[in-house]
Amino acid sequence: YHAWGSTGYPRLSIRDRVFKHKNYNFLVGHTTPEYIDSLESFEIKDSDVFVVTYPKSGTVWAQQIIISIHELHGNQNKYSNNMERMPWLEYKTAEYTLLPSPRLFASHLPEHIMPPGVKEKKILYLMRNPKDNVVSFYHFKCQITGCIMPLYSFASSWFDHVREWYLNREQYNILFLTYEEMILDLKASVKKICNFLGINLTEAAISQVVEKATFQNMKNDTKANYEHLSPERFSGKFLRKGQIGDWKNTLTVAQSERVDQVLQEKLGDLPLSFIWE
Ligand code: A3P
Repeated sequence: YHAWGSTGYPRLSIRDRVFKHKNYNFLVGHTTPEYIDSLESFEIKDSDVFVVTYPKSGTVWAQQIIISIHELHGNQNKYSNNMERMPWLEYKTAEYTLLPSPRLFASHLPEHIMPPGVKEKKILYLMRNPKDNVVSFYHFKCQITGCIMPLYSFASSWFDHVREWYLNREQYNILFLTYEEMILDLKASVKKICNFLGINLTEAAISQVVEKATFQNMKNDTKANYEHLSPERFSGKFLRKGQIGDWKNTLTVAQSERVDQVLQEKLGDLPLSFIWE
């Protein structure tokens, strides 16, 4: 975990870069334990919408779709990028109480840290094949991922994240969607999201949302591709390959079998069926 000193960035230990709080890891300098604690009384508005994901499951994709749906529904978007329009709840980047309605939030929080007020509000929970998820992490090399993400993902894993959200689903108004469904039929997924949000768009507007959310268009969309973030923080691309099954190019057979085994151990008892490929 210290080997990334060769990238030219100072060698810092993981302890300098993440802190553990409430059994989850957070990036030092981007949030504080006090702020995370304050989320317990975070005031929720009726119109708030949340996208919750385990990192590298297609968060920026869901953001683009939800933002476009709201734009086409007539909500002005004067923000210069998607992170301003739909910030991360746990990494406070603006005065959230001052954001106009409907407020849109992204979050990687596990269920036990989500503000209790979110219950009964709308959450889109997006998940992705853990094999593609870990490979996406692996390629998202940067100052952060180079040393932190492996720890981040092992210490509070995809499996725990999905399990906890799924087990507590009945307390929420939550739509579970998979990255794979979105790849296989983006238009149907956009319609599903519109239905869930209770937003009625014309066929033409739905096609516009789909168009804005294609991998190629997002890659060239400076509001959506997150290339405005400093390369010291994120030298890996958010829009990398955008495929399903890419894990086969990276994971060994043994690693893949290990994921299958953990998947069975951690989630085998749940009535969850995944369409991974
Ligand atoms: P890959 O690294 O496998 O390409 P997150 O936003 O949670 O960090 O997830 C990033 C992953 O979602 C990346 O996966 C990225 O390419 C993929 N992604 C983002 N937008 C996408 C789109 N429009 N179509 C397909 N995949 C997309």
